[in-house]
Amino acid sequence: MKIRAILMAGAMTASALGFASGAQATDSKEVQMLHWWTSGGEAAALNVLKQYLAKEGYTWKDVPVAGGGGEAAMTTLKAMVAAGNPPTASQILGYFALDYAEAGKLADITPLAEKGGWAKVIPTALQKFTTTNGKWDAIPINIHSVNWIWVNKAVMDKIGGKDPQNFDELIALLDKAKAGGVIPLALGGQPWQEATMFDSVVMSTGGPDFYKKAFIDLDESALNSDTMKKSFDNLAKLKAYVDPNFAGRDWNLATAMVIKGDALLQVMGDWAKGEFKAANKEPGKDYLCYRFPGTDGTVIYNTDMFALFDVSADRKQAQLALAEATMNPEVQSAFNVIKGSVPARIDVPDTAFDACGKKGIADVKAANEKGTFVGSMAQNYAQPPAVAGAYHDVVTKFFHGEIKTSDEAVKELAAALEGAK
Ligand code: GAL
Repeated sequence: MKIRAILMAGAMTASALGFASGAQATDSKEVQMLHWWTSGGEAAALNVLKQYLAKEGYTWKDVPVAGGGGEAAMTTLKAMVAAGNPPTASQILGYFALDYAEAGKLADITPLAEKGGWAKVIPTALQKFTTTNGKWDAIPINIHSVNWIWVNKAVMDKIGGKDPQNFDELIALLDKAKAGGVIPLALGGQPWQEATMFDSVVMSTGGPDFYKKAFIDLDESALNSDTMKKSFDNLAKLKAYVDPNFAGRDWNLATAMVIKGDALLQVMGDWAKGEFKAANKEPGKDYLCYRFPGTDGTVIYNTDMFALFDVSADRKQAQLALAEATMNPEVQSAFNVIKGSVPARIDVPDTAFDACGKKGIADVKAANEKGTFVGSMAQNYAQPPAVAGAYHDVVTKFFHGEIKTSDEAVKELAAALEGAK
């Protein structure tokens, strides 16, 4: 014990005086972050954090794993952790963090959280994912929500469309686009994108109580109900409006179709707004943001968190610096203005945000108060990964015609969710 204390004191003095070797100094000041932020808007937002930490004297090592929704990133993370080589932190969604926490793989940064009073400024719903047994082990950089549509304004004007108030009006608007010779719906036909869109369709078809019963409670009667069948019917209707090349397309390429005016609209989480911003497009002038028709007043959220791994002692200082930077209100404002999301801290003012961002912030506040702030099933905030994965599978099989009818889809979904839970 005595020897260890002496060695530690020696090491501290050496590093304080700048005597540590170059390699060691770099390592202990390095933040290694695994993430899937590889699109233009995503990378631009991450730069805010990188630059802040650079000013504080930290270096940044990216572990980027392309693939929207983070499926591939989660596979890489699993391998790194299994090899005993975890990153300082990893972008992570909801229940994935709980798995690592339960396996004892995460750090405990409770003292920093208490010093910063985070429990008072982070919505309670999110704290289920940032803490385990009362200990903080993950930090939220933002709140995204999936129930949005992003509309090209020039195309909207050209076809004489107006803000759709419900699902039927959305279909009428998509018909107008079709008649006007433009691709109505820009979609990337990947399982996570289709499932993310279905979250909104279910909310629009059944409302927040139904959504909660089906996806949060996995209530059998809700899952087997006519409302769920109608949700699949509605999803099937949307298929008539995608272009023939939709299968496999990345989400940001679908956003680009709307930005360019090749398509009228995209149903996507507000990370799409980050792409409009990166292309210097302005809301109200170049594009319009509406809640997915029929879901106004509800927020289907997914938060990007950084899971903090239980790294060796020499890497902890950099980890705490990352945590502090992430929770800094100014960083949260600057990051989210670019990312398209809203701050995870509810005390960050909306001053720097554009009209869609201001609406996003107000919506989160209102939904939080009304009890209509609910986790995204597709994005791992309603159920653990195995259940969310089963959901992706059934939705995509239905959308691509492998499951032929809504009746069959309802049965398959109920059975798959039951089997995975
Ligand atoms: C989501 C993530 C967003 C966004 C999107 C597309 O899962 O929460 O930050 O990056 O994937 O990559």
